[in-house]
Amino acid sequence: MTHTERILELLYDRKDGAFLLDELAGAAGLDAAGVAAALDELRRRGHKLELSPSHGVRLVGPVRPDARLIEHGLGTRRIGRSVICFDTVDSTSDVAFDSARQGGTDGLVVLAESQRHGRGRLGRQWISPPGANLLFSVLLTDAAPPGEALTIAAGLAVAEGIESACGLACRVRWPNDVLLDGGKVAGVLVEVRRRARRRCVVLGIGINANAHPPPEHVGRPATSLAAHLSGAADRIEVVRAVLRQLDLRVRQAAAGELDELHSGWLARCDMINERITVWSRGRRYVGRVSDVDPLAGLILFDDDGRRIHLPAEHSTVIEG
Ligand code: BTN
Repeated sequence: MTHTERILELLYDRKDGAFLLDELAGAAGLDAAGVAAALDELRRRGHKLELSPSHGVRLVGPVRPDARLIEHGLGTRRIGRSVICFDTVDSTSDVAFDSARQGGTDGLVVLAESQRHGRGRLGRQWISPPGANLLFSVLLTDAAPPGEALTIAAGLAVAEGIESACGLACRVRWPNDVLLDGGKVAGVLVEVRRRARRRCVVLGIGINANAHPPPEHVGRPATSLAAHLSGAADRIEVVRAVLRQLDLRVRQAAAGELDELHSGWLARCDMINERITVWSRGRRYVGRVSDVDPLAGLILFDDDGRRIHLPAEHSTVIEG
């Protein structure tokens, strides 16, 4: 860990409290010049600091996500053992796939403050103003579970993580929407590609933490965590909570513990018995939702009583 990272960690752990400069120097094992250099470096990295002669120095929130603050004490086995944060990339999912060729390890998390070409499912754009939200991707290279199960696992983990970090009750909507009060607050995009002769899976996750696009951009009501909180959402707390839940849910998917995923998903899903219309592989299906299966996808009974399995990858709910 560098001196700058140590100082950042100390300031972050004190939350809204301040550190006298001498106290900070003592805690970090630095002299005054070392502390000053570290504080300059933090400002260059985009952190906001408040300095006062009587109170000392304080990190002004909401704090910008930083790899060290995300990894620190995370306690996961697979997801987030290593984290990289960028200012701007084309898409965090592209960076994650590219990193698989360059030694990127299983569980790597790539996060960015903004994306030039953020993508959603079925060729849609994912729009997010710089520095407001959570845009990140997780690379899985070792024994990655089937995409269908990962879509369920990731959506569930996002809902659970948001709930544990912010106390907001999220629902899930097949295949990949996480909802708060009926508005879309997060989405998951699972993609599979071959890289360096391995099957690599990238889970791309977008969470509207502090801003959300207008409905005309996304075709359905969207919302943000901040719209349901009294202030800005702490993006670091949210991403850490989501990574912890992802670690658990991906492990269950990989171990074939599908009953756990199934019951967790159904407990947060209001679609059972709902009459919906789904577009899948160029065909329109209308029917009542009977189940969401972590391997088969959506199970629908059409008006003639036929049981239809619709995979997440090629399907979209267009009504209902
Ligand atoms: C959807 O609901 O359509 C899925 C949206 C997924 C968006 C995230 S943002 C981080 C990652 N990078 C991307 O380009 N897309 C995903």
